[in-house]
Amino acid sequence: MHHKNPHQNKDHTPVMLDEVLKYLNPQKGDRYLDATAGFGGHASAVLDLTGNYKQSVLVDRDELAISHLNSMFKGSGINLLHQDYLSAAKGLVRNERAFDLILADLGVSSPHLNEVSRGFSFTKPAPLDMRMDRRQTKTAADIVNHTSEKQLAEIIRRYGEEPRHRQIANLIVKNRPVISTTELADLVSRAWGGHSRVHPATRTFMAIRIAVNDELSQLEEALPIWLKLLAPGGRIAVISFHSLEDRIVKQFFAGESGNRYDASLTLLTKRPVAPGPHETANNPRSRSAKLRVAAKQKRKGTANADSGKKQLPGI
Ligand SMILES: C[S@@+](CC[C@H](N)C(=O)[O-])C[C@H]1O[C@@H](n2cnc3c(N)ncnc32)[C@H](O)[C@@H]1O
Repeated sequence: MHHKNPHQNKDHTPVMLDEVLKYLNPQKGDRYLDATAGFGGHASAVLDLTGNYKQSVLVDRDELAISHLNSMFKGSGINLLHQDYLSAAKGLVRNERAFDLILADLGVSSPHLNEVSRGFSFTKPAPLDMRMDRRQTKTAADIVNHTSEKQLAEIIRRYGEEPRHRQIANLIVKNRPVISTTELADLVSRAWGGHSRVHPATRTFMAIRIAVNDELSQLEEALPIWLKLLAPGGRIAVISFHSLEDRIVKQFFAGESGNRYDASLTLLTKRPVAPGPHETANNPRSRSAKLRVAAKQKRKGTANADSGKKQLPGI
């Protein structure tokens, strides 16, 4: 099945759309929270099925995405929030909102990557920016030019899983201030001496982007809040593109599920779902994607049929 999405943006193909629809299984009337609505590919497919715009919310911290969503869903009555998804989730809890379906499709979108001036790519010179939300003050230039060598090496090691993190941090510090994306990419290439399968700067750029946008702490802190926002029987799907993100989701889902009497989630994907060969051939960005989905139990401790069966008679 290849879902035809009439609203699909030509620059942005929603990742694993068929799989997302299969696992979220949207029903008429479902309330939908899209934490990273982007260019609305997943959202429009889900909302076509639920038809419930008025009780659904689309979040993105990027103004370009919000203005795109605004024209895409004009007059539908849907609620758009130009916020990071953690602040948005906190606000929705305060307003006692509930959702039947929650989706978080993490990372940046192709229109971001393709817009040279945003500083996410190093194909042409641009200022070191990398902010998803341009109202934020911290930029990539701040991290590159004002972090200690030790901390810089640690960011590049941890978030980029970059073996030459020390050499790269050292070269950066020696050449400060580093002004443009291409200057930074050249320094990383020097540290690598030109032997690498992908462009050696890819990992360093990803690491700095994750640090600029606090991507891992956003995810870690939002997961328990999304769980609160989920109605009993509701489903949450997360698509991650980085092993550290996937680990955060995996551990959170594992901690909230299982045969514990107080488990609140049932895993719908025992292992992460990956895109099929057709998708990875057509959309290179999908290659590292992993989807995990869980359902909130209907009543604490009793909705899990398996754990129920294991109980002793009379208990
Ligand atoms: C991969 S794209 C989502 C694409 C979307 N599912 C679609 O079909 O068009 C990720 C989007 O999430 C946004 N984003 C990433 N982290 C965010 C956060 N912490 N809070 C709010 N939005 C975020 C980015 O600005 C980007 O537009």
